[in-house]
Order: sequence, then structure tokens, then C-alpha cells
Amino acid sequence: MDRLYPDLARVLLSEEQIQARVAQIAEQIDRDCAGVEELYLIGVLKGAFIFLADLARRLETPHTVDFMALSSYGKRGASSGAVRIVMDLREPIEGRYVILVEDILDTGQTLDYLYRTLQGRRPASLRTCVLLRKRREGVRVPIDYLGFEIPDVWVVGYGLDYAERFRTLPYIAELRTELYRGERR
Ligand code: IMP
Ligand code: MG
Repeated sequence: MDRLYPDLARVLLSEEQIQARVAQIAEQIDRDCAGVEELYLIGVLKGAFIFLADLARRLETPHTVDFMALSSYGKRGASSGAVRIVMDLREPIEGRYVILVEDILDTGQTLDYLYRTLQGRRPASLRTCVLLRKRREGVRVPIDYLGFEIPDVWVVGYGLDYAERFRTLPYIAELRTELYRGERR
């Protein structure tokens, strides 16, 4: 990239690094899913839409794509606390091979809630695929596929936003601390 936006501190993961890792994860999923006739990929809106799109297009295992939307963090960075489904899946997942695709694990609350909710619908298998995990304490959620461990900073790009900005950057960057410190925790 030529010039960083003034609100961004630095690039954490370049487009090339992300694309290479996504390709590896797709290969890993294909190996693990040999023989599976249809995978059901569930993306969590909005953050996972770009990751899911790239990942799905690299998969050789036959798959369908669906989305869920949850109530999430407030407009800026502040946590709203409770997790709630605001848009559910189009189809039942009972007996299906499901992979839940998330952008980022922070406290783990969101994924934990989703995991337990979906597990209750009795899929044949339920796996989790998360692009980023922040190094910080929180709820322990089983992660089957992880892209990268990152420091506990606010990141944007590749689907992730700050107040709806920066979602479509091809790389992942760290937001300047002054913009979000004091809003959360
Ligand atoms: P958790 O429930 O604390 O794990 O929060 C996970 C959700 O918060 C993610 O799905 C994101 O939507 C959002 N989130 C957490 N950290 C970041 C970040 O650094 N940038 C953008 N969104 C984030
Ligand atoms: Mg999210």
C-alpha cells in the first residue's frame, strides 16, 4: 500500500500474508473433510464476510454458505455485553457438517454463545474457523482452524471495522490507540 490512513498506526498483516494463510487453512479443511459430501459454512456478519468469501473460493470440498448476524459491540468500540441473534440461518443444520467462520476472537463470548447455540441443533459435526485471536484471557472456546494470533489491540480491515469504517481494506491494520482506549473494559 502507498500511504496509511491517519487513523491507522501500522499494518499488522499484509494482504499477501493473509492470502497465504487462508490458502493453508482451506487445504487443511479439505484434508480434514475428505469424504464429506457437503460442508455447511456459516459466516458471522458482518466481520467474517470477506474471510468467508476468500476461504470458500479456495475450498475443494463441496459446500454451501449461510450467514448469521448477532448483536455486537456498540457503534464505536464499546462492548454491549449480551450476545443476541438478530438474523438466523435459512436452514436447519441437524445432521450436517458445519464450520462456523468468525473474524476475530476477543473475549470469546460471541463464539462461545454461537457454538453452544449451534451445538444444540445437533449437527453431525461442528468446527470453528477463526481468522484472528487476541492474546488475552477470556472464555475458552474450541478453535479448530486459526489464522493468526495478534496482540490485544483494535484491528481493522479484511472485514473488520471501527464504527463501520475500514472493512474493505485488503490488509489488517492496528487502529491508533487514542481512538479507542477508554471505551471498553
Ligand atoms: P468477543 O465476543 O469479545 O470475542 O468479540 C468478538 C467480536 O467483537 C468480533 O466478532 C468482532 O465483531 C468484534 N471485535 C473484537 N475485537 C475487534 C477488533 O479488534 N476489531 C474489530 N472488531 C473486533
Ligand atoms: Mg464479528
